[in-house]
Amino acid sequence: MTGRFITLEGVDGAGKSTHTAWLVDSLRQHGLEVVSTREPGGTPLGERLRELVLNEPMGLDTETLIMFAARSEHLRQVIAPALARGAWVVCDRYTDATYAYQGGGRELGAARVAELEHWLRPPLRPDLTWLFDVPLAVARARMAGERQLDRFEQEAEAFFERTRAAYHARAAAEPGRIHVIDASQPLDTVRRALQDDLQRFLARNAA
Ligand code: TYD
Repeated sequence: MTGRFITLEGVDGAGKSTHTAWLVDSLRQHGLEVVSTREPGGTPLGERLRELVLNEPMGLDTETLIMFAARSEHLRQVIAPALARGAWVVCDRYTDATYAYQGGGRELGAARVAELEHWLRPPLRPDLTWLFDVPLAVARARMAGERQLDRFEQEAEAFFERTRAAYHARAAAEPGRIHVIDASQPLDTVRRALQDDLQRFLARNAA
């Protein structure tokens, strides 16, 4: 049996990172082999590309191509081999983030991102995606006082509204895969919602 591919998404400050570790632990408690990884990054080269793309000023096409260059390495070296040997992969951000941030936030448009998504080999897509959704004010409050902000976190409000709207469009187009989590609720409430959703997913996928 091949493994399952789960991604976590959302605008900066949605709290997704807090839930990633919990998800990985929960899956391991079910006896599954889990590979926990992130984008951009996930390989030594990918982490170097992450440094560049988060901090270095560059054009939008370059930015988008770097996201996909890192993704290509990640897919080939880490994600595809893990799934093939039956491991589950939990990835903090994936291609939906490019649709949201470059496609929406930076207004590249979904069609250009789709060209690169189709170009990627192997053409793996997540089996389940949790989209942590919060209004802008909540996201901003959670980011306040954080370590130095990267190029994306420093963007203006309109950028985040466009990014969030692009995430919503993705979720509306693929409701079976992308589950929207109301992350403005208290942590315990969010956690319970995740627990229920994970149980349903496991019942269908880890027989
Ligand atoms: P993030 O998960 O927020 O990292 P951290 O929690 O360490 O701050 O991801 C880093 C940033 O990269 C985030 O602002 C969104 C951006 N990003 C894109 O713009 N496009 C992409 O395709 C990906 C994967 C991330």
